[in-house]
Amino acid sequence: MPAVATIAQEILELKKQRNATLLAHHYQEPEIQDLADVIGDSLELARKAREFSGNVIAFCGVWFMAETAKALNPSKIVVVPDREAGCSLVDACTVEQVREFRRTHPDHAIVSYINTSIEVKAESDILCTSRNAVKVVNSIPPERPILFLPDRNLGLWTQKETGRRNMEIWQGACIVHATWPARRVVEAKAEHPEAKVAAHPECPESVLALADFVGSTSAIVDWCRASKAPGFIIMTERGVSYTLEKESPGKRFWFLPNDQCNCSDCPYMKMNTLEKLRDCLLRLEPRVELSADLIEKALVPLERMLALK
Ligand code: 13P
Ligand code: SF4
Repeated sequence: MPAVATIAQEILELKKQRNATLLAHHYQEPEIQDLADVIGDSLELARKAREFSGNVIAFCGVWFMAETAKALNPSKIVVVPDREAGCSLVDACTVEQVREFRRTHPDHAIVSYINTSIEVKAESDILCTSRNAVKVVNSIPPERPILFLPDRNLGLWTQKETGRRNMEIWQGACIVHATWPARRVVEAKAEHPEAKVAAHPECPESVLALADFVGSTSAIVDWCRASKAPGFIIMTERGVSYTLEKESPGKRFWFLPNDQCNCSDCPYMKMNTLEKLRDCLLRLEPRVELSADLIEKALVPLERMLALK
């Protein structure tokens, strides 16, 4: 089996030949992050995809993120290391369900988390990410009822932050974040009393209630960098530890096992490997292909979100 350094070299050469940009989410393994042109949360990666000017985007994250990049770059090639890298939130909400809701609730504004299929995005009024959900909900006239989908925990947290009452919340969940029991956080706080708790809003309400900070992956990185605390209990996927340690040298970070895998890894994000990344740049497959009609519809709510400063 070729060494990591050899595969990394092959990837760098292919990147040059293909005029490719490598976008990586914080949850990717360090060897992938090391090769990336941009590492970020889902909002930052969507913004970067929008500024893209090369020929190929190799998206190291999950499929819905690559679909978003393709919608923003219809004439460019967007490839992913593993087509099976999905998301439990995408699976929690089908386009048929959303169409049925629209038919029966024509007055509602449908706010869709970016963790949805491109078909669901195309039926939505506006998108949001974990970083801007509060801003997006506040951008909707107060008298207009809202359906927030598909993440229950992000929806509840956003409702609490905005004080919005006329908001229905879908009951989807992330298999990683929603399976952290609050007792683990209580135990970790007892073990590390000097540590602050930073949590992703996909965590259950009981976990968020114990957090000193709630925000997206990049917001967590920024908050820990700015904080004077010596250590942090981090309630999100383990991959973010690589950036946290680079950005906050000397501080300590603890990740807790959840009830799903007794770990803090997203099984979908971790399907991507260096070998698969090299192969997708070589073969230009698996590739995201979307119809022009779908792109046109999905761009409306996506651009509405990106226009919010
Ligand atoms: P971010 O919006 O923080 O990138 O989170 C995306 C995600 O999938 C969290 O599980
Ligand atoms: Fe989806 Fe959860 Fe994985 Fe994020 S961590 S990609 S929400 S399954």
